[in-house]
Amino acid sequence: MNSNDTSIEELDPARLPAHVAIIMDGNGRWAKKRLMNRIKGHEKGSEAVRMIVRACRAIGIKYLTLYAFSTENWQRPKTEVSALMKLLKNFMVSERRELLDNNIRLITIGQTKRLPDDVKKALYETMAVTSDNDGMTLNLALSYGARDEITRAVQNISEQVKAGSLALDEINEELVSASLFTKDLPDPDLMIRTSGESRISNFLLWQLAYSEIHITNSMWPEFTKEEFISILCDYQNRDRRFGKIEE
Ligand code: IPE
Ligand code: IPE
Ligand code: MG
Repeated sequence: MNSNDTSIEELDPARLPAHVAIIMDGNGRWAKKRLMNRIKGHEKGSEAVRMIVRACRAIGIKYLTLYAFSTENWQRPKTEVSALMKLLKNFMVSERRELLDNNIRLITIGQTKRLPDDVKKALYETMAVTSDNDGMTLNLALSYGARDEITRAVQNISEQVKAGSLALDEINEELVSASLFTKDLPDPDLMIRTSGESRISNFLLWQLAYSEIHITNSMWPEFTKEEFISILCDYQNRDRRFGKIEE
């Protein structure tokens, strides 16, 4: 935990990350520690989602990607999956006004067609009404897995080669990037994981190639704006070399 008295004024507006991606982990452990049901942790976690969306908009982050549900998370108990789906649907309805008022566009990555119909309906509606907003893009990773994303890209590219519309030597990094769910987004500059786990858990495997990584021991429900700002300060002190050396 690292939430000292850092405030927005200490950030250099010229060196903000354009894209922040977050693995929001630790809801279950947060609840368990308080002798509560895991679902309570997810409920509290959704308040932290509201907080981080507001904070990013206020600070001037252009893209925020939140890992909300992985392809592997479908294997959790049915009751937990349904509770998460219900929270997701509620979020889509309750935050619609706020997203509109703050000029935030909602998009998703992942196999959203696997989501229950009522969740899809609320989700697509919020995406549709916010689609012209350009203050910030909130990208939710829902039923998302990076291996699934890359596998789809390989299938898609192979089909074009098979059909004769693409030559082998036209396959390059740009084409692979353009074949991913994230084709319209810059790669994340900063990836944060809460709950202290030092792993990627199938998140943005291609896109994180040169992202700065910050792991905090805070559980997602207890993550604060102050801690976020201090992580941004730490980011601004990093030397991103991209494999090169100082001239
Ligand atoms: C993150 O918290 C939320 C989702 C993965 C949906 P967890 O539910 O993974 O909480 P822990 O990691 O078990 O504490
Ligand atoms: C990653 O957390 C997925 C999300 C935060 C949505 P998990 O809790 O599913 O990941 P593992 O099991 O700790 O690797
Ligand atoms: Mg977890």
